[in-house]
Amino acid sequence: MRIFLIGFMGCGKTHWGKLLSQKLQIPFFDLDAVIEEQEGKSITEIFAENGEEHFRLLEKDVLYMLTESHDNFVMACGGGAPCFFNNIDYMKKKGATVWINCSPDCLYSRLVKEKEKRPLIKNIPDEELKAFIIKKYADRKIFYQQAAIILSDEEISLDTLIEKTFHT
Ligand code: S3P
Repeated sequence: MRIFLIGFMGCGKTHWGKLLSQKLQIPFFDLDAVIEEQEGKSITEIFAENGEEHFRLLEKDVLYMLTESHDNFVMACGGGAPCFFNNIDYMKKKGATVWINCSPDCLYSRLVKEKEKRPLIKNIPDEELKAFIIKKYADRKIFYQQAAIILSDEEISLDTLIEKTFHT
């Protein structure tokens, strides 16, 4: 089974993805980490040197490459991955899609401490970050909410993830 974890930066996709993959004993892929490894550069460097458009093409290529070559995995997808091209439709066709939905307030409290490694927010002053998250979250919700399974940050646990993924 392929499980795609989607949601805004900071919602916990990598954290939950690792735990879920360990529990199910299937591989875990962090889409950003695979892109970094393939390119030999950090996501921040790719954005700075090649631009976001190039990153989005790489993201799509790596998503397809990993998906076509593996039948079983948990994948933590970057926050923008389901929002470009028709990636969300592709993910839905290929496996179980899970949106970890975290409120903008909660995202802000996490992201304000972790801006550096995220090119989209790195240069946004702290006092403008909340407004940026609210706007971007609103723009992206239309993609995230297409996930087959939606779990709020408050209700998420390993048990709920497994229960919903296998019984939806
Ligand atoms: C992005 C989210 C990041 C990473 C890139 C762009 C986005 O991943 O893919 O910086 O557009 O939301 P995380 O969601 O893992 O931070």
